[in-house]
Amino acid sequence: MESKLPDAGTTIFTVMSRMAQEQGAINLSQGFPNFDGPQALRDRVSYHLNHGHNQYAPLAGVPELTEQIAKKVLDLYSRPIDPQRELVVTPGATEAIYCAVTAVVHPGDEVIVLDPAYDTYAPCVQLNGGITRHIPMHYPDFRINWNQVKDAINTKTRLIMLNMPHNPSGSNWSENDIECLRDIVQGTDISLLSDEVYEHIVFDSHPHHSLLRYADLAERSFSIFSFGKTYHTTGWRVGYCIAPKHLMQEFLRVHQFINFSTNTPMQFALADFLRDCPQHHLALGGFYQRKRDLFCELLQASRLRFTPSAGTFFQLADYSEISDEVDTEFVARLTREHKVAAIPVSVFYAAPPDQRVIRFCFAKDEQTLRRAAERLAAI
Ligand SMILES: Cc1ncc(COP(=O)(O)O)c(C=O)c1O
Repeated sequence: MESKLPDAGTTIFTVMSRMAQEQGAINLSQGFPNFDGPQALRDRVSYHLNHGHNQYAPLAGVPELTEQIAKKVLDLYSRPIDPQRELVVTPGATEAIYCAVTAVVHPGDEVIVLDPAYDTYAPCVQLNGGITRHIPMHYPDFRINWNQVKDAINTKTRLIMLNMPHNPSGSNWSENDIECLRDIVQGTDISLLSDEVYEHIVFDSHPHHSLLRYADLAERSFSIFSFGKTYHTTGWRVGYCIAPKHLMQEFLRVHQFINFSTNTPMQFALADFLRDCPQHHLALGGFYQRKRDLFCELLQASRLRFTPSAGTFFQLADYSEISDEVDTEFVARLTREHKVAAIPVSVFYAAPPDQRVIRFCFAKDEQTLRRAAERLAAI
């Protein structure tokens, strides 16, 4: 039988996390915190597990949660949304991305993907018979070349997949990016997938440019978020998608046959926490900025070169002063010999450029960051 994803191996995140474990290395590869989410939130999960909230949730999510999310979106992005018809709670952002792509991409449709791209994007397109058009962004600033995006658009272009703040580069958008995007899609029927899972992890007083802030862009967008990133609970698998009714109707048609609904006690707990502790997400940027600053300050003692991230919990580093190995070989040796695991950035490209750049996750406690940086400084 012919594979539907013939080029897909095991994801690099699994490969590197496994290698880190086997080698007893500090794991700065896969993007997850090594600390727990807020105690008050975990307490609410126990509460709901023990108070009868253990059956199927409604298709779009429990109303207590969808109403809290709608309130948050209004407060943060000044966008009123209908929590019944423009919002769906999903098992992580990952399922939302798959549903959004499946909702709009037909065989032969073209989808623009900006590389380096999160690893689920292209396979989602491929599984739907779509064709990916990859536009590269480059180290160190990873600016989007909007002229190239414009040139890639034709009558078959169905979707543009966007991610800001950006994994793996840690770059963020400016108002100019919004203007360029707006110019390009105006007058077309192209949809947008706006992956905003790091919406709250933005540094140095810069804003997050959610497409929800802009009525004309929101009208054609699936905006996708993750509670895993916001509450240090990536293993709970809860995210959500916001889209206008005409897109959400198609999204729901797919979602109902994939997962039907999302984990009930977690949804009730998240609803309570959003209501009772709205300051948590407002403090998240500062929380991760302190980790970025510590890690970057410690890395100054190494031969790695870097520009501090503008957002996310990832820091890229250029290792060309240390080695001219390709990044996949370098991370394997780094894990084996120096006991620090990282992610090679080339795997996020369809056509990897000639660069020597790796990604570290700094969502770790201070002691782990100090130990990792000490080892990196010794190379
Ligand atoms: C850019 C990006 N999108 C989506 C996801 C998936 O989020 P979730 O864990 O909520 O499925 C991640 C997780 O690392 C990510 O970095």
